[in-house]
Amino acid sequence: MKNHYQFATQAIHAGEAPCPVTGALDTPIYQSTTFVSPTSDEMAAVYGEEKFGYMYTRYGNPTLRALEEKLAALEGGEAALVASSGMAAISTAILGYVQQGGHVVAARSLYGAAYNFLNKKLPGMGASTTFVDSTRPEDFEKAIRGNTRLIYFETPSNPVLQILDIAGLARVGRSHNIPTMIDNTFASPALQQPLALGVTVAVHSATKYLCGHGDAMGGAIVGPKDYIQELSHEVLRDFGGVMSPFNAWLILRGIHTLHLRMPAHCANAQKVAEFLARHSQVRRVNYPGLPEHPGHDIAKKQMKGFGAMMSFEVTGGYDGGKKVMDRVKLFARAASLGDTRSLIVHSASTSHRAVPREQRLAIGVTDGLVRLSVGVEAAEDLLSDLEQALDF
Ligand SMILES: Cc1ncc(COP(=O)(O)O)c(C=O)c1O
Repeated sequence: MKNHYQFATQAIHAGEAPCPVTGALDTPIYQSTTFVSPTSDEMAAVYGEEKFGYMYTRYGNPTLRALEEKLAALEGGEAALVASSGMAAISTAILGYVQQGGHVVAARSLYGAAYNFLNKKLPGMGASTTFVDSTRPEDFEKAIRGNTRLIYFETPSNPVLQILDIAGLARVGRSHNIPTMIDNTFASPALQQPLALGVTVAVHSATKYLCGHGDAMGGAIVGPKDYIQELSHEVLRDFGGVMSPFNAWLILRGIHTLHLRMPAHCANAQKVAEFLARHSQVRRVNYPGLPEHPGHDIAKKQMKGFGAMMSFEVTGGYDGGKKVMDRVKLFARAASLGDTRSLIVHSASTSHRAVPREQRLAIGVTDGLVRLSVGVEAAEDLLSDLEQALDF
């Protein structure tokens, strides 16, 4: 497909074409583990990659391929690879650059499992990570060593919505010849295009906004063609975390409405954030769409909308946070994010309960911090639910 089409057109058409055999307009779910070859010579040629073809779903599958082509088009990357979950994508993508003896410079404010992978799993493999507390690209640059192989970050970050300067970090990477990798899950390519700002690789939990409906796990990596090919051949095939064709189909279907869902999510989130910021039971709201957010100006420059993830600190600390959770009627007490439904999580008693309190406070996850994934229900209903939940 021509790449001059606009985002909305690409979201629907990129990577997909009617089946040349049956005329099926929607991409079929190729629910097959293996693919047959007409002759032994052809089979050998496909295995030897002298001829394009499918052989085994862990090595590639037409439904997965359609999703990969769509994601590459939407992120503006050369190629993409999908994986069974966001964490399968993130670990695969990092291992594509970092081996024994290697070093990563990473933002401190990261999704918990990504932080654990860098902080605990990489050292077990003989590599290391320096976490940077600051948002200034210069401070990331200072942490670079001779053996640094990757700069890894997330913006907006989970769950404190830290905003980093994407173009600034990409510049630091380029000037040291070190690849940069961003987790673009919170924004999705509908709101933020990091590759166009100079980042080398974008990773995703496709489980979230890309899928959009809370019914499929998946992950994605978008970046240079040679790197993606190497990941596919040398990392994902061996670790084995491939996406199922059915999940790829659900995520493809979700992406058809990504450009419609994201503005609706953002509009609701802005109203919720402004409501919370005015509420007497709320101490602080972390939402980049609020002018008082420290990353507001950068977010405005690098995002097309501020997203629909936010966190806020309720009065009453730990018990206050739990109380809000118990009192909501429409928001679902549930992990994950990016669904059409609105979700709520009290971080200290759930996602961060295993993190020592001092460490938790250092990354901004205070006792009363409540995270919202604002859905696309009627804004008025969401506001009245929060109003009654905070009336204690
Ligand atoms: C920002 C971010 N990245 C990655 C992940 C991991 O994705 P998955 O749960 O699909 O493995 C999550 C999960 O919540 C996330 O919030």
